[in-house]
Amino acid sequence: MKAVILSGGFGTRLRPLTINTPKSMVPVLNIPFLEYFIKRLKSHKVSDIALAVSYLAEPIKDYFGDGSRFDVKLSYTVEETPLGTAGAVKNAGGFIDGPTLVFNGDIFTDLDLTAMMENHNQNKAMLTIALTPVEDPTSYGLVETDNRNRILRFLEKPNPDEITTNMINAGTYILEPEVISLIPSQTNCSFERDIFPLLLREKKDVFAYPADCYWIDIGKPENYFQLHYDLLNGKSNQYRFNNGKKKVVTGTHCIIHPSAQITGPAVIGNNCVIGEDVKINGSVVIGSNCQISNNSVVDDSILWNSVHVEPLARIKHTIIANNSHIGSGSTIEEAVLGNNAIIGYGQHVKAGRLVSPNTIVN
Ligand code: GTP
Repeated sequence: MKAVILSGGFGTRLRPLTINTPKSMVPVLNIPFLEYFIKRLKSHKVSDIALAVSYLAEPIKDYFGDGSRFDVKLSYTVEETPLGTAGAVKNAGGFIDGPTLVFNGDIFTDLDLTAMMENHNQNKAMLTIALTPVEDPTSYGLVETDNRNRILRFLEKPNPDEITTNMINAGTYILEPEVISLIPSQTNCSFERDIFPLLLREKKDVFAYPADCYWIDIGKPENYFQLHYDLLNGKSNQYRFNNGKKKVVTGTHCIIHPSAQITGPAVIGNNCVIGEDVKINGSVVIGSNCQISNNSVVDDSILWNSVHVEPLARIKHTIIANNSHIGSGSTIEEAVLGNNAIIGYGQHVKAGRLVSPNTIVN
């Protein structure tokens, strides 16, 4: 089976990280998010993959190229402006010649794709939608099914008294080429709002594939955090933290002062310098070429590449994108900093603050 991965959205909810970096390329444990996706597809013998790109397409193409480095065949379908989830797949119509897997490119899941493909074929479905359970169904679009998993109804953000299920659309579909013929060309069109309800109205064979396995979408900073926390703490079977042997994984050419305390679980990239009496607590990821200077404390945070932290700074539950500079004695809590942010000496960055790329906080 072929696959289309939707990787062209603006990723507005993940700003400021997605102002310079497409959502598909944000690092997860120092590896671009999409790389996990491609490896997972390969492990299910899906190796002919189209990436539907639009906003910030170049960093994706530059990194993945024709896919040969990952032993898959990658092609790109480009929308001048994003056409929506269904519009993007219509734009990739030339690639589709049989049942095809379609993915929202911001989902991390252990879903068994091989079993889902078998299930789609057994049901002779026109469309199969993977479902995942959620704890609080009121803020999602719910999917109601009968006892044979035929989809009966989509329920958008229901009131508590309307709730009949806790299963939501998991952003993974298998569709037959007939579905493509129902999508208008070069028009913004959504699967969730336009095409799926249309298929139900026309009484097509639309089935669900419910799966209770690890699932998260990284669309918001708290979810992006949660994915790191979950992977570092062994919640997904796609990543075994250094085979459970070590709680701190360090790259090459790092200089870590013997007095530095790193509790782990932590991942540290290449060429990092960790100074005297630095404390790195909890789930922490530090990219390559970072410097954490003497007496600084980093708690439960994600630092991308080339971040420089001066002495006596305190960083807690914060995401800091590439090339940012944190002045000495400053404190940052529950914030998200875009690329090239500069936090001056002794500054206090308040909880919830989003610092745009190239901003100086003084
Ligand atoms: P927000 O702006 O934060 O809602 O994020 P988003 O633009 O990524 O939208 P959403 O989270 O709904 O998208 C789900 C997946 O579909 C993501 O992987 C997006 O990259 C992708 N996607 C959304 N809209 C488009 C589009 O118009 N074209 C393409 N190619 N992909 C899209």
